[in-house]
Amino acid sequence: MTSHNFEYSRFPEQILQWYDQNGRELPWRQKGGQYADPYHVWLSEIMLQQTTVATVTSYFEKFLHNWPTVRDLALAPLDDVLTAWAGLGYYARARNLHKCAGVVWHKYGGEFPNTEEALLDLPGIGPYTAAAIAAIAFDKPCVVIDGNIERIICRVFQLEETLPAGRPAIKNHAAKVTPIERSGDYAQALMDIGSSICRPKRPDCASCPVGDLCSVKDSGLAEHYPKKAPKKAKPTKGAVVVWIEDADGRVLMRRREEKGLLGGMMEFPSTEWTEKAHASPAELGDLLNSLGGEDQLNDCGSAPEVKHTFTHFHLKLLPRIYRLYERDSIQSNHLSWIEKDKLDQFALPTLMKKVARSVLSGQNELKL
Ligand code: ADE
Repeated sequence: MTSHNFEYSRFPEQILQWYDQNGRELPWRQKGGQYADPYHVWLSEIMLQQTTVATVTSYFEKFLHNWPTVRDLALAPLDDVLTAWAGLGYYARARNLHKCAGVVWHKYGGEFPNTEEALLDLPGIGPYTAAAIAAIAFDKPCVVIDGNIERIICRVFQLEETLPAGRPAIKNHAAKVTPIERSGDYAQALMDIGSSICRPKRPDCASCPVGDLCSVKDSGLAEHYPKKAPKKAKPTKGAVVVWIEDADGRVLMRRREEKGLLGGMMEFPSTEWTEKAHASPAELGDLLNSLGGEDQLNDCGSAPEVKHTFTHFHLKLLPRIYRLYERDSIQSNHLSWIEKDKLDQFALPTLMKKVARSVLSGQNELKL
């Protein structure tokens, strides 16, 4: 279908009609012409940035129970907020959430600003979230684009733009079909359609409310859109990760810095991740000394190498296992002793779960 004869107004009409009948009932949503509370919309959108709707629901309800208004959240101790967030991962988001509540309370008297521009200025709110809140809570005609919406637009118009460079062009197409009214309902409808019908794999074209307008319906081509730029080869990095266990079966973990990859999450200490295989004995010695002293540790050998792939590189970690001679000789603010039997109760990053599995499977304790 060429875009010059595309019926632009039919697209949002059909989407909204579908939403009125089929849109999901979610605890932060208001259907039937009412606007959702901006605090609820903001909270749910921040939580949904990293987790599925199914997981977010219980956290959302817990947060509203603990802190019914943005003022309550702003005045809550940060530690309480971080504790309630545990399990959602990425603690930097929870810190920003608390900071943002503080700004909304102190600068705006507890009322969220209602423009995309002012929302964008708040901590932890990026372009997607600013547009989503302005549209959903304030009915502003914003062009909301997340991965689901991008996929639908690329398929309907059969756009050849590649991700990520083609994003601005894709947004221009999305803008042409975004309605002036009910843009929040429209965006949420597309999110629902993206997760249940226009799925990345095996889309259910027969159930789609805009199938009659779609360039790739039933063509078998849908899965090829959006087009992705050819992937650059990823470098492989390596390091040694240390599993230091005390006589009571507790293992040493440290909290990563807030900024950067796996920010604020717990890890087993490791040498620097570099484009070398694992680490030199000197680097390992420096790590052990920084953790309290090589002479306090009894070397118990290695566990099988752990492999993991991040967005920009592959990583190989070699776990080395140590027993601590002198109990509690290792102490620092960033370090904690965690009972190895309780590791599964922590929101460990997948990489660290793999490390624990590698070590524990050698100890015949397949807990994780
Ligand atoms: N994902 C992010 N925001 C959402 C929303 N408001 N509804 C459904 N899925 C979402």
